[in-house]
Amino acid sequence: MPPHDRVTIRRALASDADAAVDLRVRVVDEGIWMGTEPPVDRAVAIAAFHHYVDSDDKGSFVAVVGETVVGAIVVSFALPGVTTLGMNVDAEWRGRGIGKALVEQVITWSRAHGAHKIELEVWPHNAAAIGLYERTGFEREGLRRRQYRRRNGELWDAIVMGLVLDTQSPGSTLS
Ligand SMILES: CC(C)(COP(=O)(O)OP(=O)(O)OC[C@H]1O[C@@H](n2cnc3c(N)ncnc32)[C@H](O)[C@@H]1OP(=O)(O)O)[C@@H](O)C(=O)NCCC(=O)NCCS
Repeated sequence: MPPHDRVTIRRALASDADAAVDLRVRVVDEGIWMGTEPPVDRAVAIAAFHHYVDSDDKGSFVAVVGETVVGAIVVSFALPGVTTLGMNVDAEWRGRGIGKALVEQVITWSRAHGAHKIELEVWPHNAAAIGLYERTGFEREGLRRRQYRRRNGELWDAIVMGLVLDTQSPGSTLS
């Protein structure tokens, strides 16, 4: 589905900081999708937002409707040649192609910055995110068992997903 016709995807600006952090707070407060658990430290989140906007080796994009930020995605290098992303779409705006349009921006950014792969982790219960990543070409690469301690004491698994961008370079001759 193409994004809703009132939605624009563009690079994030410093002036988007408050709105993007407000969105992050709302999604983190849902409590079950993100690695971060509430409450969000707003000062840290604002500083992180500016860090992404100001860095040449990081990308930050927003989905806006009028002046309202309804989605956001960031991308950075986790390893040499391997990028990773973090994203959220406001609950009222999900299921309209915004997430897909944001991931496509990150794929384009990663290719343009020479990445050979994009990697990420997602909670096994996050069917929407898993569906989105599979729809945009990511594959499940593994399951990290009991990897993350939650504040309530539970240990959550994480699914590892990857999108290989460089399919031309040779693989190892040893395996
Ligand atoms: C995950 C998230 C970003 C998806 O954004 P979205 O804008 O709703 O996704 P889209 O509308 O672009 O959907 C793209 C594809 O994802 C899949 N998808 C979306 N919602 C889905 C759902 N509820 N169940 C299964 N698949 C789903 C579909 O394949 C869809 O493509 P299609 O409509 O052409 O079939 C959004 O649900 C969100 O922000 N969730 C909370 C934060 C979060 O989970 N962040 C990621 C943490 S890893």
